This record gives sequence, C-alpha cells and structure tokens, in this order.
Amino acid sequence: MKLIITGGAGFIGSGFIRHILQTRSDWQVINFDALTYAGNLENLSDVEDNPRYQFVRGSIDKYEQARDVVARGADAIINFAAESHVDRSIMDAASFVQTNVVGTQILLEAARKARGLRFIQVSTDEVYGTLGPTGSFTETSPLAPNSPYAASKACADLLARSYHSTYGMDIVITRCCNNYGPRQFPEKLIPLMTLNALQNRKLPIYGDGLYTRDWVHVLDHSRAIEAILEDGQPGSVYNIGADHEETNLDLVRKILSLLNKPDSLIESVRDRPGHDRRYAVDATKLRDELGWAPIVPFDQGLRETIHWYQSNRSWVDRVSSGEYRGYYHRMYGEREKTLDEI
Ligand code: NAD
Ligand code: TYD
Repeated sequence: MKLIITGGAGFIGSGFIRHILQTRSDWQVINFDALTYAGNLENLSDVEDNPRYQFVRGSIDKYEQARDVVARGADAIINFAAESHVDRSIMDAASFVQTNVVGTQILLEAARKARGLRFIQVSTDEVYGTLGPTGSFTETSPLAPNSPYAASKACADLLARSYHSTYGMDIVITRCCNNYGPRQFPEKLIPLMTLNALQNRKLPIYGDGLYTRDWVHVLDHSRAIEAILEDGQPGSVYNIGADHEETNLDLVRKILSLLNKPDSLIESVRDRPGHDRRYAVDATKLRDELGWAPIVPFDQGLRETIHWYQSNRSWVDRVSSGEYRGYYHRMYGEREKTLDEI
C-alpha cells in the first residue's frame, strides 16, 4: 500500500507513520504536513532516512498543494491534519474552521478528482458532545459539539459523509477518545502536567477536576486505524475507545505519584468555558467487525509515557524553546518558508 498521511508530523500522525513503517515492510508513506506549531519533524527523526518514507510540506487547505501530493499516487489518504487543541479554539476559532472544515473539503475534492482512493477521516468523540455519569456514545448518536474545535471536526465528518453519499467515494470516519503517549505536544493534559510536576510547578486543574475522559494509547489508536483502513466498511463510522475512564483529578494524582511529587502541586483554576463533563464511546462495532482491542494497559502506558518525557529532555527542551521549528530548514536545506508562504 502507498499512503498519504496528512498531519504526520503531529502527535498521532507521527505515531501512526512509525507504526506502519515498523510493521508493514512493503508499505510506503508520504507525510503531507504544513508544520504548524504542532508539527514537529523531530517526531520522525528515526524514520527520515527510510526509503519508504517521504515528507512533503504543504497545507490541506491549498487546493494545488493537495492536488499535487495526491498526484504522486496513493491507495489511501488518512487525514490526521487538524488544529487539535480545544483551548486554542476557544481563543480563536478561525484557524479551526480553515484547517478542519475548509481543509478537509479541499482534500476531499483533490481525492475525488484523483479517483479510486480510500479516504479515512480521523475524527474525535468530542463531536458527540457531553455525557452524564453513565452511558456511552454509539456511532448513531447525534452530533452535538460544544467547543469550536469539536464543531469544526463535526463539520468535517459531515462533509466526508456527503462525499461518500454524493460521489460514491470510499470514505470511512473514525471517532476516537483522548489519546496519550510519547511526543504529545505539551499543551495537552498529560504532558503538561508531567512537565510541570518535573519542574515543581503548579498543575492547573480546570474547575472541580471531576471531568472524565476515556484514554487510549496512541499505539492502540494507530492499530485501530490500520484495521479500519484495511477492512472498514465504506461510508461507515467507527468509534475507537479503550473503556478506560479517569477523572482529571485521579489522573493527575497518578502522575504525581509516579513522579514522587506531592498532591499540593495541584491548583484549581478557572474552568474552561463549555467544558464537556464526560466523554465515553462504545467501540463494540470496531471490536466485533474488525477484531480490534487495545493492547496497552493504561497504568503501564502512563508509566512509560512519563518515563519517555523524563528521558527525552532534548525533545522537551527544543519544544519549549521553539527550536524544533527550525528542523525542517536544517534537514531540507531550503530557506524556511512562513506558513503564509507555503
Ligand atoms: P496535533 O495537533 O499533534 O498534530 C496536528 C498536525 O497537523 C501537525 O503536524 C500540524 O502541523 C498538522 N497540520 C495542521 N494544519 C495543517 C494543514 N492545514 N495542512 C497540513 N497539515 C496540517 O494533533 P493530534 O493530537 O496528533 O491529532 C491528530 C488528529 O487526530 C486530529 O485530526 C485530531 O482531531 C484527531 N484526534 C485527536 C485526539 C487526541 O486525543 N489528540 C483524539 C481523537 C482524535
Ligand atoms: P485536553 O488534553 O485539552 O483534551 P480534551 O479537552 O480534548 O479532552 O484536556 C483533557 C482534560 O483535561 C479536559 O477535561 C480539560 C482538562 N485540562 C485541565 O484540567 N487543565 C489543563 O491545563 C488542560 C490542558 C486540560
């Protein structure tokens, strides 16, 4: 198989690329990424010399660039590219609409013109909105997004659905719960709290900290997408969830305990507006139809993730200082273009 992975320099996309190159000895991967603040080519420094891997800098919301990368020939596109952080979407929703909505439509259009590609739209459980203390969302639950991020992902899902219904394109949508693992950008809960704790800084918990998320390891998300890519039904939606729920407070206490740091570092701060109380998805369809099940136990995955951040100080330091953003320039020897220029 030859795959175009959009957003492959981000947290999950880079994990997926590494997983595919390690486990599929004859698959080829093109990583198409705009390198926003969340794109870090150092996430893939161990595979950049692999002859089955190619990086192309470009943006999914620029038609010619999307068309040109699709013209390189591929069996499938997996669209990971997105603005992905809820708090940023609350500060400024415009880039979320531009990338997640407009970008997905442009990428779908490029794929439609090329014909014959399978298109996997990587989405999130956040499109379903919030849950009470019990129950979980199935693939037929109504979409009720509460943040601009979730709304932009829901729009993208509906566009993907419409390109299947209208043009008969082979499209599958995946909706995954919260991911964790190495190389997650330190604005998200687990790396942020880990790095703050390591520096004895306060851990800002929004509101009462009793918000609940289902956590899946990035490797298990990658394995789910791999299964869906190969055997998912065209026009279908698949929830991906690990049935491992934690309140934010419990999770942060686990991180502190693993690092031998006191709970007194936890600080309650002003709540996130529109904060969804609980997410949980029912992944029965994925388990029954495609035989997928998560393999990384949460406590082990969390311990290893924290250990990764402890033992990869240079990655952390270059992300903190912003130095990681010069990597493309150093590697590919071109003048560094701004995002507006690409
Ligand atoms: P991330 O923010 O770490 O990475 C996003 C990547 O997309 C970056 O490399 C960035 O440079 C790239 N990108 C942004 N705009 C682009 C554009 N216009 N063209 C090309 N590339 C662009 O995100 P992530 O956490 O790895 O999430 C990947 C995908 O998975 C997203 O679609 C997200 O909605 C979805 N998802 C994430 C989670 C999670 O817990 N992180 C859970 C479910 C679904
Ligand atoms: P986050 O990692 O931003 O993922 P999402 O909002 O997509 O679920 O946040 C996970 C949970 O942690 C969410 O309930 C918000 C909460 N949170 C905090 O309490 N403090 C923080 O500093 C951050 C970043 C998140």
